[in-house]
Amino acid sequence: MIITPEIIKQAVNILENEGLVAFPTETVYGLGADASNENAVRKIFRAKGRPYDHPLIVHIGSLKQWDEWALDISPEAHALAKAFWPGPLTMVLKKQPHVLDVVSGAQKTIGIRMPRHPVAQTLLQSFGKGLAAPSANRFTHISPTTAAAVKEELTDKVDLVLDGGNCEVGLESTIVDMSGNQPIVLRPGIITAQAISAVLGVEVASLTKDGIDVQRAPGMHHLHYAPHTQTSLVAKEAIPATLNALTPHDLPVVFLVRSDKEFAHTHHIHWVKMPEDAATYGHDLYRTLRSLDSQGFKRIFIEAVPEGIEWEAIRDRLAKATVPRGG
Ligand code: TXA
Ligand code: MG
Repeated sequence: MIITPEIIKQAVNILENEGLVAFPTETVYGLGADASNENAVRKIFRAKGRPYDHPLIVHIGSLKQWDEWALDISPEAHALAKAFWPGPLTMVLKKQPHVLDVVSGAQKTIGIRMPRHPVAQTLLQSFGKGLAAPSANRFTHISPTTAAAVKEELTDKVDLVLDGGNCEVGLESTIVDMSGNQPIVLRPGIITAQAISAVLGVEVASLTKDGIDVQRAPGMHHLHYAPHTQTSLVAKEAIPATLNALTPHDLPVVFLVRSDKEFAHTHHIHWVKMPEDAATYGHDLYRTLRSLDSQGFKRIFIEAVPEGIEWEAIRDRLAKATVPRGG
């Protein structure tokens, strides 16, 4: 799809009439609605099957719009905007009183992001207002990183899908809470706590590492964002034992591995080699899982990834993808 001015005009027209437009960002595709229109925002929750207490991120196209949504924006928050916006960073700040409860999950704070994908930028600038947008998937599924994946997830529940190709980052934005005394990373992403710390010159806590009260991140902890196929993590050393323990009932299975060791493909045991570096791995992860999920495997096994900080967001998503369903 070539994104012409006519298509952008059509998208803006849909948004102005309480419709839903899915659009690419550099992280994952978003499902956008006019953040100042309650009817429009409610459609997002219905389309996704998402509970209403999960707050949405408001996407803005320029810094001028920032204080229309947030209060008490600190110099530190400005420093992060200067360093990382437009880009894959969401900041949680105190909200303006007019922000709809349906957007903020009736909390006192609001998540704001300025994405850098050119299609997102064009859309936001043409619309001129804030766009509430979660990832464009059904609740608890994995986020879409292509326009085709959005259509697979939401079928006729979205009025228009803007196709901006494969998402560059492939994992959701880093969320940092800047509403309190100390910055806290609520959801790790490609912008690490260290990178934020380097800009601010202060310690940055991380929800996933520091055991902070998860109430700060509603709905973030107990949920899984998982393939339908039963998916498990397995340490590299445990792969042979895992293979030995498979019963005919488990087959066919697929292993996502990072090791170079060549494993023999059989009719029932498949191997997918994942990238060695974190950035490419993150870029490919959701697309790979989505594709394997539709291929009739009984189980997906994922080789655990390294401990380094650059793998933190991936470890977080793998942990969420491997929580047993119904558990
Ligand atoms: O990369 C992304 O962030 C994508 C693209 C489309 O921007 N969006 C995204 O939205 O991942 P969503 O709704 O799928 O995930 C947003 C997360 C939710 O888990 C929500 O609980 C959290 O952000 N969140 C939103 N507002 C918050 C707030 N005020 N305080 C704490 N957490 C918040
Ligand atoms: Mg999501």
